[in-house]
Amino acid sequence: MSDAYSRDYGHLPVLAAEAVAALSPRDGETYVDATMGGGGYTRMLLEKADCNVIAFDRDPAATQAAQIWAEKYGSRLTIVQRPFAEMKEALEELTISEVQGVVMDLGVSSLQLDEGVRGFSFRHDGPLNMRMDQQANLDARELLNRADEKDLADIFYIYGEEKKSRIAAREIVRVRQSEPIETTGQLSAILEKVLGAQGREKIHPATRIFQAIRIFINDELGQLAKGLLAAECVLAAAGRLAVVTFHSLEDRLVKRFLIQRSAAQQAGSRHMPDIARPDEMPTFSLSARRPVLPSAEEIAANPRARSAKLRSALRTQAAAQKAEPDFLRRIGLPQPVFSPALRNWS
Ligand SMILES: C[S@@+](CC[C@H](N)C(=O)[O-])C[C@H]1O[C@@H](n2cnc3c(N)ncnc32)[C@H](O)[C@@H]1O
Repeated sequence: MSDAYSRDYGHLPVLAAEAVAALSPRDGETYVDATMGGGGYTRMLLEKADCNVIAFDRDPAATQAAQIWAEKYGSRLTIVQRPFAEMKEALEELTISEVQGVVMDLGVSSLQLDEGVRGFSFRHDGPLNMRMDQQANLDARELLNRADEKDLADIFYIYGEEKKSRIAAREIVRVRQSEPIETTGQLSAILEKVLGAQGREKIHPATRIFQAIRIFINDELGQLAKGLLAAECVLAAAGRLAVVTFHSLEDRLVKRFLIQRSAAQQAGSRHMPDIARPDEMPTFSLSARRPVLPSAEEIAANPRARSAKLRSALRTQAAAQKAEPDFLRRIGLPQPVFSPALRNWS
């Protein structure tokens, strides 16, 4: 299957067989692929059973590219160009009251990363953009040239877990006083100069800061938290949820959400005392405590798989829980306090 994906879209899906197996597709059922991308998961679902898929992507480039292969599946496939945080509303508009599975394969696709013009990657020079959805308010260029030093440092630290966040922010502010920072190449060169190679793995010095900017611009963690809550609402009893994450911020959120929602199983847990809610009926039961990881063969064939983790769970019959005000903080959604100026633009 990977040949077809490379030809159509250039994205090699990660943990696809495992994520699709977690949904165990059956004839007549309906699934949400919350992150269609090149359609690797969507197509695998549609090939495995005579089922229906509602495939979301907020990126118009992904939904347009799907035209090449989508026709084959006729009315079994519905493509929705919308953020998956709006999954519940979108399904209501399609008069679908519940689905039997939701799968999410988070982050960006190879198409987005490899097209310099999208400005996502330090490996390809291009304008600093990084918006998945071009309707979004703020792009990376505007952020880097307008945000104050403290906001930049906080973004780098919180969303990139970059220890030298303040040094990087200070240098960006210094450079932009003489010339605007317009391209990924310019930003990457600044970061290389002030940060140097990092950690035992010697990852590229721009890695964490590019990740941080992308997460902030696209509100990726906010989307994930809302997407998980929406999945809880739209999944039928015995419905399956499968989520593939690519870094620790995403994985922590998914893990803590599932632990909180399967709280009865965890009652008395010494590890998560502040999130266990044994008084609420659990809405999910965990398929396994540990995530599924890619095999050594998959990592060798597709280095992007290196940090992937798949977590899955089964929806119970209990009604969706209310998200109390403090819920998002407790499951690990960062709550940064940015300056009013940044809050107004983003
Ligand atoms: C890792 S790729 C998915 C690849 C896909 N599983 C495949 O097999 O080709 C992630 C995709 O999800 C989309 N995406 C990310 N966050 C999203 C969101 N909040 N709502 C909708 N789409 C999103 C991105 O635009 C990207 O195309």
